[in-house]
Parts: sequence; C-alpha cells; structure tokens
Amino acid sequence: MRVLSGVQPSGTLHLGNYFGAIQQHVELQGPPGQPEQAFYFIANYHTLTSVHDAKRMRELTRDVAVDYLTLGLDPARATFFRQSDVPEVCELTWLLACCVGKGLLERATSYKDKVARGLEASMGLFNYPVLMAADILIYRSTVVPVGKDQQQHVEMAQDMAASFNAAFGKQVLLRPEWRFSKGAVVPGTDGTKMSKSYGNTIPIFPPVQMTEKQIFKNYFAAIKTDSKGVDDPKDPSDTLMTLYRLLDAQAAAEFEPVYIKGGVGYGDIKKRLADAYVARFMPLAEKRKEIAANDAYVESVLEEGAKRARAVAAEVMADARDAAGIVVGRNTHR
Ligand code: ADP
Ligand code: TRP
Repeated sequence: MRVLSGVQPSGTLHLGNYFGAIQQHVELQGPPGQPEQAFYFIANYHTLTSVHDAKRMRELTRDVAVDYLTLGLDPARATFFRQSDVPEVCELTWLLACCVGKGLLERATSYKDKVARGLEASMGLFNYPVLMAADILIYRSTVVPVGKDQQQHVEMAQDMAASFNAAFGKQVLLRPEWRFSKGAVVPGTDGTKMSKSYGNTIPIFPPVQMTEKQIFKNYFAAIKTDSKGVDDPKDPSDTLMTLYRLLDAQAAAEFEPVYIKGGVGYGDIKKRLADAYVARFMPLAEKRKEIAANDAYVESVLEEGAKRARAVAAEVMADARDAAGIVVGRNTHR
C-alpha cells in the first residue's frame, strides 16, 4: 500500500485544508523508519495554473513545506518533496494525455468552477487532472486522501490508468482509491465550503501578534447564524457545531444535547469554539516560527524526499515508456 497526496502552495492554509486533508495526511504516515509508505508533495506545477509571479511562487512553496513540518509531517515516517523535483511526472502526463479522451476532461467540474470564478482557461488548467493523474500513478499509489472536491480528479486518474493499460495491453499503472477525512466539507464563516477563494476562512496558524480577543472577534463572532434565541432548540448539524466537533470532539459531544434542547445562545458556543481553537492552534504558531527560521533543515527534508520519490518514479516511467515503445538513449534519462 502507498498513500499519496499533494497540496497546492496557493495561499495561507485554513481549517478546511487542515481537517479536510492535512490532518489525515499526518495520521496516515507510516511507522518510523518506513517513509516510503506515505508520499506527500507540494504541487507547485498545479499552482502555475493560477500564480504567475516567480517570487511569490518560491515563497508559497516554502511556506507549505514549513506548514506541513509544523503540523506533524515527520520525514522519518513520510516522503515529502516538491512536485517539480520529479520531472518524470511531466513526461507521464504526456503519455496519459495521449490515452485520454478530451470528453473526460470536459466533464471536470473543478475546471468549470475555476473558469466561472475568473481563472484563465489555459491549457494547463484544462490538463490539470492529467497532471494530477500522473502524480498519483507514477508512484503506484493505492490510497489518495483528499477532500471531497478532489474525488472526481481521483476517479479520472482511475480512468486514465485503465485507458493507458488497455491502450498498450500491459498492466503498468495501478488503480488508486480516494479516501475522505472526517471533515469531508468544512464550512467557512458564512456557512458555505471554507475556501480561500470565498474569503470565509479561519487560518490554521493565527497571526502571531493576534490576541485571543481579536481571534474571537475576527473569526468566531463573525460566523453567520439564524436568529434563534437562547432557549430555542438548535440544529446540531449547523456550522457552529460542525466546527466544534472538529476542534474538540469530546467537548462537542458533551455540549450537543443542550444545544439540541435549547438553553444556550450562539454567543456561548462561539466563545467555546474560539477557546478550543486557541488551545489547539496558538502554540503551533510559535512552533512554526522556529521551523521557518531553519532554511537548511526545510531544504534538506525536501531534497531527501525528492531522492526517494524520484527513484520510484524512474522505475515506473521506464515501464510506461517500454509499454508505449518510447525509446530513450541510455544517457538521456538518468
Ligand atoms: P481552497 O478551496 O482553499 O483553494 P485547496 O483547493 O487548495 O483549497 O485544497 C487543498 C486540500 O484541502 C484539498 O485536499 C481539499 O480537498 C481540501 N479542502 C479545502 N477546503 C476544504 C473544505 N472546506 N473542507 C474539506 N476539505 C477541504
Ligand atoms: N488538486 C489537488 C488540490 O487542489 C492537489 C493535488 C495535485 C493532488 N496532485 C495531487 C492531490 C495528487 C492528491 C493527489 O487539492
């Protein structure tokens, strides 16, 4: 079994990213000394579909590396690398593109959503699922932990693996399965899916200078509710309870009966949420500062990860080329 997932370095990470993806990535790491069971990478090529600023791209890429290391990614238990350190991924993307119908990609809802939100309808954006399939298939990954919005992309990777194998009559690529986390869809402060594109996020790392009071005011007091009064029975599947369950499952379970029955106001649960968030994420903001100050460490983790990932990719790519009859000279590919 190999677990694999990618994260785009496209901005400040939020609780949707954490409970929808990162927490699960950390939980699914292998035992110490077996980093080859879990592969996680920074999908900088994917972010090129939306960021065209070299300095910002470099910063964002490094930021995600620091974020993951802060949140518990352990280089002894997982292989962590940059997508661009494994150029074979782009090569496999082309081979897959030649086996996949344009119609499959035209059905991608993520492409349509992004274009509707104003992203440039580039060939890169259109091909995004092919690059993602190559990411998954080149490491013969079997389990892909993602948020629900990525389900269709993983299903496309399943289709592409089957098309490639059928086209060349060889079982080169393995079928991957998606896996959702507890927070399949984490709601944002306005009740819709938390997303950096919707301006409704709560960051994983509160800005270091932010006080607890400001955290309450900016993130939790701002959560939209209906107009039910203190004594009214409330909906245990609303945004507030959903976030409470993620932030502190035990406290939320104890609180739930009162919430359903009535007798507590929205202000009260918002205060509880802010406290649970502060207890859990404030200390991490400090830890993050320390890791961010250690460039050499961050770079060494990524380079070590790249070496390991590339060794696997080179083997699978050799099999894929061989199946397709693509010949390369001995000195061309390392
Ligand atoms: P965003 O929507 O903010 O641009 P990304 O698309 O970069 O976030 O998502 C990165 C990862 O986090 C993906 O695996 C995605 O499924 C997950 N994710 C993002 N937002 C949420 C959310 N609100 N609920 C659950 N998972 C999420
Ligand atoms: N498309 C994913 C996202 O936006 C990131 C990603 C790129 C990915 N390649 C992947 C996720 C391979 C899982 C597997 O979140």
